[in-house]
Amino acid sequence: AAYETILVETRGKVGLITLNRPKALNALNSQLVAEINLALDGFERDRGIGCMVITGSERAFAAGADIMEMKDKAYPETYLEDFITAWDRVAQRRKPIIAAVAGFALGGGCELAMMCDFILAADTAKFGQPEIKLGVMPGAGGTQRLTRFVGKSKAMEMCLTGRMMDAAEAERVGLVSRVIPAADLVDEALKVAAQIADMSMPSVMMTKESVNRAYETTLAEGVRFERRVFHAMFSMADQKEGMAAFADKRPAKFSNS
Ligand code: HXC
Repeated sequence: AAYETILVETRGKVGLITLNRPKALNALNSQLVAEINLALDGFERDRGIGCMVITGSERAFAAGADIMEMKDKAYPETYLEDFITAWDRVAQRRKPIIAAVAGFALGGGCELAMMCDFILAADTAKFGQPEIKLGVMPGAGGTQRLTRFVGKSKAMEMCLTGRMMDAAEAERVGLVSRVIPAADLVDEALKVAAQIADMSMPSVMMTKESVNRAYETTLAEGVRFERRVFHAMFSMADQKEGMAAFADKRPAKFSNS
């Protein structure tokens, strides 16, 4: 496919998507979101890909949904075209996706990062939900996901004032898994992704599915789900290989079966 708003590459078993609308600080218009989904569709179909990375530029991961594109929309149109719903497909992917965030991750940019499985942040990263300043509020899961990441008090403050959080604060409160010097961000994200892609793919995907259960159900149900999946893993060649390799003191070689 010919992409206009993103760059799409494969690095070994890793799919890399780079948001690429530099003049608008990677503002997320409908074309860009459609292209992300197209690229993710391709990576999910590709048996050779085990993990994806979404990144932006040094200046901005993404400065939000494209304000120019949405400013004149009327309510019936937003409803009829199911405005924003296409974004949800990023959160429903089965293979893991890492967000590598440098610079601004604002509004829909912060929401897109939170739809990924974890966020690696450059020391330059700034996270915020400034929609309130535009007379609206987060519309791609921000009021829900940010609250689950950082708790009510901080999420409420950020959504009501639009205050930005820097990388250190984002790490302290658990929004990001790690902070990395900006110059190393993408290399480190690709390294982590390659590590994941070398694991047993079924185990990786079942692990992602199980961790995500923690957000959707009670503890008892979540633990029961985990136990079923864990037991099922003993039907896989990769379980035999992984544990035999440990016993033989050699690296495991997984066959994704
Ligand atoms: C469209 C945007 C944009 C956006 C920046 N630009 N953000 N265009 N939509 N969200 C454009 C600017 O208009 C400008 O274009 C160029 O990018 C550079 O931006 P500047 O403002 O000149 O840069 P700077 O002074 O460095 O300020 C950076 C910034 C500021 C603090 C990030 O751009 C900003 O506040 N942007 C908007 C952030 C925001 O409100 N995001 C939430 C959007 S609503 P020109 O042509 O002038 O050079 C949202 C809703 C989500 O995300 C709900 C559903 C998804």
